[in-house]
Amino acid sequence: MQYPFTRKRRLRSSQAIRNLSAENHLTVNDLIWPVFVLDGFNRTEKIDSMPGVQRMSVDVLLEKLVPLHEKGLNAIALFPVIDSQFKTDDAAEAWNTEGLVQRSVKTIKSSLPELMVITDVALDPYTSHGQDGIINEQGEILNDVTIKALVMQAKSHAKAGADVVAPSDMMDGRVGAIREALENNKLYNTAILSYAAKYASSFYGPFRDAVGSAANLGKSSKETYQMNPANALEAIDEIAMDIDEGADMVMVKPGMPYLDIISMAKSHFNVPVCAYHVSGEYAMLQSAIDNGYLAEKPAIMEALMCFKRAGTDAILTYYADRVTEWLSE
Ligand code: PBG
Repeated sequence: MQYPFTRKRRLRSSQAIRNLSAENHLTVNDLIWPVFVLDGFNRTEKIDSMPGVQRMSVDVLLEKLVPLHEKGLNAIALFPVIDSQFKTDDAAEAWNTEGLVQRSVKTIKSSLPELMVITDVALDPYTSHGQDGIINEQGEILNDVTIKALVMQAKSHAKAGADVVAPSDMMDGRVGAIREALENNKLYNTAILSYAAKYASSFYGPFRDAVGSAANLGKSSKETYQMNPANALEAIDEIAMDIDEGADMVMVKPGMPYLDIISMAKSHFNVPVCAYHVSGEYAMLQSAIDNGYLAEKPAIMEALMCFKRAGTDAILTYYADRVTEWLSE
């Protein structure tokens, strides 16, 4: 590889040759759009910490989904905004067969049966304390009690027609328990996308505003169940356990500050590795764009390409709607 016989710049000299020699490509098939659903009809709400993202009632969401699905968007991830009157210590609203998520899944699947609907399995939108699990009097998160609730929640999502259930709670053993319940209920084709390596990150702040769990959580943290950002090798164990218990796909979360974990996951395991470009990452990027410090489309497309380069199979990103439009132009 000696200059001048090798000139690396040759393959960068025109757009055509750059296209041909690109190692990675971003397509609409890589995108999963996370959406915040509200109860009611014809409702939208702005989210202050996520400029450009809205909470929507399911009719408004459907209006947006129809053209996006025509342009190739394959998948959405549903996150409910639960009215405070339905939040309790035991999170029972989470498995209400007529709850917001369950109704939304039915509505979306009956209009767009080919669109993949992923639901979040965790109790935080439903608990009065904002934790993902059930707590005792000391405020400790009770792993095995929580699993029972998560199983009921996952089953109710699958019965409503969710294609994929995505446990994001980080309790130990929940994937196995959910898989067993799905099998026992003949829900053989419901896939499990496990948030296997989910870190206790400050980048989830805007999401907690969006779903309205921030005030419930107050000053408490999720550090006794979500992973320590200092750890990488531990992610291998977390992912291996979830695959062993029956996860079909795994997730790393957050995304851009954790590309090393994505890359490691992809090299160790053969299941699809998804990554979550989380709310705080969206807020950082969008604030810089809104201030004119970064160019919108190039900055977003580069960020998503970097996920692909790290080995990500599918990216949950609040930019999925915009990017679907751009890719179809
Ligand atoms: C909760 C959940 C969170 C996110 C997805 N599911 C927040 C949390 O763990 O506190 C974060 C997503 C984002 O920040 O965009 N189970």
